Amino acid sequence: MGNYFPRWINWLPLKIAVCLGFVAVGAGAAASYYFTPKYTRVGYEPTQPVAFSHRQHVGELGLDCRYCHSYVESSSHANVPTNETCYNCHGPDKGQVKKDSVKLAAVREAKETGKPLEWIKIHKAPDYVYFNHSVHINRGVSCVSCHGQVNDMEVVKHAEPHSMGWCLDCHRKPEDSLRPLDQITNLNYKPEQLSREDFYGKMVAKGATLEQLAETIGAKEEAKPTDLQSLISIAEKAYGPKMTQTEVGCQIKARWHITPPEDCTACHR
Ligand code: HEC
Ligand code: HEC
Ligand code: HEC
Ligand code: HEC
Ligand code: HEC
Repeated sequence: MGNYFPRWINWLPLKIAVCLGFVAVGAGAAASYYFTPKYTRVGYEPTQPVAFSHRQHVGELGLDCRYCHSYVESSSHANVPTNETCYNCHGPDKGQVKKDSVKLAAVREAKETGKPLEWIKIHKAPDYVYFNHSVHINRGVSCVSCHGQVNDMEVVKHAEPHSMGWCLDCHRKPEDSLRPLDQITNLNYKPEQLSREDFYGKMVAKGATLEQLAETIGAKEEAKPTDLQSLISIAEKAYGPKMTQTEVGCQIKARWHITPPEDCTACHR
């Protein structure tokens, strides 16, 4: 029996194992290259034609994101502002803030030549991915969830991975991110800053019943709220003296029927 098979056969299992090992390592490397772009994308921070600072214009001057990114709420694509937006303050005819600044030389030159400033794009979804800004903005997702603390950035950088797994993490548990619509561009918002009276009062004004609100809090049958004040007491018992993200997120999700899609065709059309 011993010499019935040629000798190399003894090595075959080992060869197969080694070979499979290589395939597995190769596929693993390819998969991590394709599926975890955070290694290449997060932190991407190109040098722009003008050293425009979000920290200065948003953090210090207090401009709202929509002053410049005017389409985010209404369109599938966000926009970077045209030169005209900069000329509102840095143009020759309108007071001209910092008119002798070297940092603004390219802006003055653009005004003279009429050529648009060529901003380098930082965030880009692949062509085979469908993404719509306004849908997210109008359903309670803030810029900060997807772009990080831009209001503190001297130079914008890619702060979140924007991978498929990352999109799905939120789609599976949107309550961790949802906030009232008037706080979408307030990147320093914290749920504990909200007042329950105000939050639940607005929900009731929009047609929510005290029973619905209490049910989402998870109140027991016997703790039926009779007025706003008793609802607030139920919330305090459940979540503590300050509002929490779970509280805010679960109410918004339930009241607005938020159900982000997880099926392939929603994002790959
Ligand atoms: C005064 C105008 C202005 C305001 C206000 C402003 N931005 Fe910008 N934003 C720009 C300009 C110009 C660029 C392109 C240059 C750069 O990347 O810095 C930009 C770029 C960006 C980018 C990167 C775009 C890309 O290429 O992927 C993001 C994200 C962004 N802004 C988010 C915000 C958010 C969030 C706010 C509010 C907190 C905000 N911006 C407020 C002017 C503005
Ligand atoms: C609403 C008014 C306003 C708009 C719009 C605006 N800026 Fe400014 N910007 C300012 C003010 C005010 C300062 C100076 C703050 C200070 O005194 O330090 C400034 C400072 C700057 C500086 C730094 C200048 C320096 O020497 O420190 C640059 C660069 C700049 N802005 C570029 C831009 C660009 C590019 C745009 C258009 C995308 C723009 N700004 C839009 C008000 C504005
Ligand atoms: C749910 C995630 C999400 C939210 C919320 C979000 N963005 Fe984006 N943003 C993206 C993605 C993804 C891209 C790349 C889109 C593409 O390539 O079509 C992007 C691109 C951009 C760009 C670049 C547009 C361009 O053409 O260069 C700007 C500017 C921007 N976002 C600003 C904002 C602002 C301001 C807000 C808040 C008002 C915001 N975004 C909220 C995910 C988000
Ligand atoms: C932080 C949370 C969050 C992130 C991150 C996020 N989404 Fe969403 N997405 C939502 C919410 C909330 C809705 C709204 C669901 C509803 O209205 O019921 C939504 C809806 C959608 C829809 C359905 C509405 C439409 O436009 O047809 C698509 C498609 C979508 N998201 C794609 C994406 C893609 C692609 C990414 C990643 C680049 C992404 N989302 C990242 C929260 C998120
Ligand atoms: C919420 C949105 C969303 C859903 C749902 C979704 N995808 Fe994706 N998918 C993405 C995004 C965003 C990317 C691009 C990731 C990147 O750029 O790294 C992607 C990338 C891919 C890729 C390309 C990987 C590559 O690197 O070439 C494949 C294949 C894919 N998705 C298949 C699927 C399948 C199959 C499903 C259903 C089970 C699905 N996707 C559901 C958002 C989604």
